[in-house]
Amino acid sequence: MTIASIILAAGQGTRMRSKLPKVLHKIVGKPMIWYALNVVLELVDQPPVVVVGYGADAVRDAVGDTAQYVLQEEQLGTGHAVACVQDTLASRVDTVLVTFADMPLLRAESMAQLIALHQEGSSPVTMTSFLGDEPRGFGRVVRNSEGYVSAIIEQADATPEQLEIREYNVSAYCFQADWLWEALGKIPVSAKGEYYLTDVVGLAVGEGYSVQSMVLEDPTEGVGLNNRVHLATVEKLMRARINQKWMLAGVTIINPDVTYIEPEVMIGQDTVIQPNTHLRGQTVIGKDCEIGPDTTVIDSKIGNHVRLLASVLEEAEVADDVTMGPFCHLRKGAVLKQGVHMGNFGEVKDSILGAGTKMGHFSYIGNARIGKNVNIGAGTITCNYDGEKKNLTEVGDDVFIGSDTMLVAPVKIGDRSVTGAGAVVTHDVPQDTLVVGVPAKEKRKMEKSD
Ligand code: UD1
Ligand code: CA
Repeated sequence: MTIASIILAAGQGTRMRSKLPKVLHKIVGKPMIWYALNVVLELVDQPPVVVVGYGADAVRDAVGDTAQYVLQEEQLGTGHAVACVQDTLASRVDTVLVTFADMPLLRAESMAQLIALHQEGSSPVTMTSFLGDEPRGFGRVVRNSEGYVSAIIEQADATPEQLEIREYNVSAYCFQADWLWEALGKIPVSAKGEYYLTDVVGLAVGEGYSVQSMVLEDPTEGVGLNNRVHLATVEKLMRARINQKWMLAGVTIINPDVTYIEPEVMIGQDTVIQPNTHLRGQTVIGKDCEIGPDTTVIDSKIGNHVRLLASVLEEAEVADDVTMGPFCHLRKGAVLKQGVHMGNFGEVKDSILGAGTKMGHFSYIGNARIGKNVNIGAGTITCNYDGEKKNLTEVGDDVFIGSDTMLVAPVKIGDRSVTGAGAVVTHDVPQDTLVVGVPAKEKRKMEKSD
């Protein structure tokens, strides 16, 4: 069997009331189409064909080259959208999986079941449905006396009796390809002037086939979204699903309702996530950490046994045994080596803090290389910007930077040197030297401890 997949993503999503195409609205930090894409990438070898229309360029940019694209110039309905793909796929595949980009909760396992059910049966179409109690505009699944599907009726076209049906059409189908291309040409135009993909089910029934529907075990997988109320519902369900995955994998989440973990984040065993923590992007967190409360980590790598309290980390790297917070900010390129301690109100950007270095209170370190076991006194600032460019500060090992020192870059401080409180260091300081004053001058050589 050669199988291809089609994802429909051409609609504007009028009910979202947005200039952004519906499929680019985010669910737990990812455009919703990302989820539909991941499902088919797991099951189908060929690159999926995404049907784009409204906001086509934006959708292409967001999805990138894992998919191929077909443009549906006018949105004439879901059946028309699939027909647009015929030239791209016809004669190359015998089975086609069709899903919609606005169904992010659908699981790959369920689509694998759909494909299996399709292969067992003899009908050229197999569909997916779920039992629910919120109609939300879903197509209703009508079954015959033998339990096979006889039709899908769109809400707008349903009789009062049909509206009572609680089996809803998910919009995930498996088709026999050649039959599909032919059937698409036979879809009648609806009262709304659209060509409904759902009508091909009726066509198969009319040709005498027994159409089966794979009923989702977990009905939340069928929750699609058309407006921003649904968006919040789906966001909540997805968030709960991700949090549950991590709890079952050995991560403690104190209050999953207020813990926000994006789908690509990785977390080690026995780490505890305190409330109001946001773990975003490509963040990796090690084992035995305590993260939060009130902490945001974006695209950062955190080692083991790390303690982060009420802090914000962006594109940073934190080694084992680091303790930080409350109220620290690591910005792009901040690298904290093993056992670094940052107390309250510290900011580090594009700098390395060597192992064991301590920075307890109110400091800014930018464009700096700080050695091991350095004490950075309260209020220390790297004056890294001269109005034109960023300049480097280099501090050796075992240095003691006195409180309120200004390190006017470019500047170097040698190993074991000391700056007095309030020093404004404008010139390089050799090793084992005490400097004080404004501008800082050499006071004496430090006594060697050995
Ligand atoms: C569709 C189904 C309905 C089902 C529901 C599940 C049809 C006619 N109806 O209704 O039975 O219960 O999904 O969520 O299929 N799209 C295009 N081109 C178009 C029209 C739509 O690509 O011309 C895409 C949209 O971007 C969207 C998807 O198809 O991703 C569904 O379109 P939408 O208008 O939301 O269909 P529903 O009314 O939800
Ligand atoms: Ca929909």
